[in-house]
Amino acid sequence: YGDYNQKIDYVFKVVLIGDSAVGKTQLLARFARNEFSFDSKATIGVEFQTKTLIIDNKTIKSQIWDTAGQERYRAVTSAYYRGAVGAILVYDMTKRQSFDHMVRWLEELRSHADQSIVIMLIGNKCDLGNLRAVPMEDAEEFAQRENLFFMETSALESTNVETCFLTILTEIY
Ligand code: GTP
Repeated sequence: YGDYNQKIDYVFKVVLIGDSAVGKTQLLARFARNEFSFDSKATIGVEFQTKTLIIDNKTIKSQIWDTAGQERYRAVTSAYYRGAVGAILVYDMTKRQSFDHMVRWLEELRSHADQSIVIMLIGNKCDLGNLRAVPMEDAEEFAQRENLFFMETSALESTNVETCFLTILTEIY
């Protein structure tokens, strides 16, 4: 089928959040365009990309929003979360601090987003396994306690990136 006359059944907004440099922009680039960049610049403000997928015979247009992890580059928070039905909380598995900050990101998310939002916790950069600073069990325990889905990914090597987005979109649907 041509993409242009595709009937869209659902549009789902998903937001990416987490500290600066954990790989949010590259996860999105990998998912939306199958691209990756080593010299990724810090995001300023808000960007989004869309990707249309067929899940269960329905055409689902995912609209994935990416914002700056750095406070000074962040845009108006409430607008970012408005209408989001999914959220991907990203930490860098080689940076303990980025995992410790998940508590704060989750707090911000829960205070701005809809109660029913589906949340996925992601430990990115699993290609750097020898530099691991966050044991899988710590993340699993946190995810279980907070009722989040959890996965480790690598935007660089494409590990679990598609699975992560598909899981959250399927769960929303
Ligand atoms: P902000 O825009 O500041 O919030 O950062 P971000 O979370 O969007 O990080 P970004 O995607 O720009 O990636 C930061 C750095 O990590 C870049 O140098 C990327 O190339 C690198 N990076 C991202 N994902 C991976 C990964 O899976 N593995 C490795 N080894 N490096 C990665």
